[in-house]
Amino acid sequence: MNKYYSTIPAGFQQIAKKELEKLDVQIQHVYEGLLIYTTQLTPIEIGNISYFVNSFLVIAEFDTYKGQSNEHILKNIDNIALKHLQKYVKPGQSFRVRNSYKNQTVSVNEVFLKSLENNVVKHCSLKVNRSLSDLELWSYVRSEGFGMFGLLIPNAVQHIKPYKGELKPQIAYLMCNLAELQSSNVVMDPFAGHGAIAKQIINFWEYKGLIANDKDDNLYLRLGENLTHTFKNKIINEDATNLKSVLTSSVNKIVTDPPWGLFKEAEVTTLYNDMAKEFYRVLANDGVVVILTAKEKELKEAFKENFKLETEFNVLVSGKKAGLFKFIKD
Ligand SMILES: C[S@@+](CC[C@H](N)C(=O)[O-])C[C@H]1O[C@@H](n2cnc3c(N)ncnc32)[C@H](O)[C@@H]1O
Repeated sequence: MNKYYSTIPAGFQQIAKKELEKLDVQIQHVYEGLLIYTTQLTPIEIGNISYFVNSFLVIAEFDTYKGQSNEHILKNIDNIALKHLQKYVKPGQSFRVRNSYKNQTVSVNEVFLKSLENNVVKHCSLKVNRSLSDLELWSYVRSEGFGMFGLLIPNAVQHIKPYKGELKPQIAYLMCNLAELQSSNVVMDPFAGHGAIAKQIINFWEYKGLIANDKDDNLYLRLGENLTHTFKNKIINEDATNLKSVLTSSVNKIVTDPPWGLFKEAEVTTLYNDMAKEFYRVLANDGVVVILTAKEKELKEAFKENFKLETEFNVLVSGKKAGLFKFIKD
């Protein structure tokens, strides 16, 4: 049995937990942006889980509640821990040590770092390379008063680097997850932007049809270049408040990230009211809307007449507080 720490976008941990529970794992703790669990799954299998940002195979764990820092961890990596690490690495691989304190990467005292590097070299037959390494070993201290030393398992399936302004793939994935997409569904993102949500649907879900729309001409052209062209995917260039080419009651799920209008209060109220009316028209009975915005009050107001709020989460997106909502057509 291995123990892992996996990070997810802040606020999305309950959605990720529900999905992880479908696998053969025992979840031990859920914290903001973090799941801790044990499982027989291998590091390669963990790296293939699409909604994790990073995962760590735990080599040793520590209490840090007395204000202890990363150096406390580095000083206390014993031979038992290094023997454990040995099982997961190949002699001759290069490694570097990195340190995270309360979610910030930090540097540590050179004496402790060197001493740990020497021990790893001696016990695991690895080579140090502080700039470009095969493996990364992390000391990780959380504000909740615990920490661990672990082997980084990067996400191996979310390869595409997001454009500026595009949602992180893990956020887009977990939004689709919340919508509970099914193979019989027509799914739409009416504010598709660079297509983060559409890309996740194409890569990870079975679906009947996908409509990706953006009013911006350049983004529309970019969507056409970036999304796989199959008979199931339709890319359109319309106003999301007046989707002329989308038939009434033809869509089952809307998953979207509309403009947050952070500087224009009045316009966002109008946009959200008009969008709620258009979503109501295009959605089939029991249609679902999963939507992300920092303008929570305006959104709830716009949806309160024709939709039932099923659930909401407080999340962080690029450091900004936002709400993630799931509505059902009433
Ligand atoms: C927050 S961004 C979406 C970003 C997207 N989730 C991504 O990952 O790239 C909102 C998008 O809505 C588009 N937009 C703004 N008003 C619109 C409208 N009335 N109809 C359709 N698209 C609109 C903008 O061009 C922008 O690309």
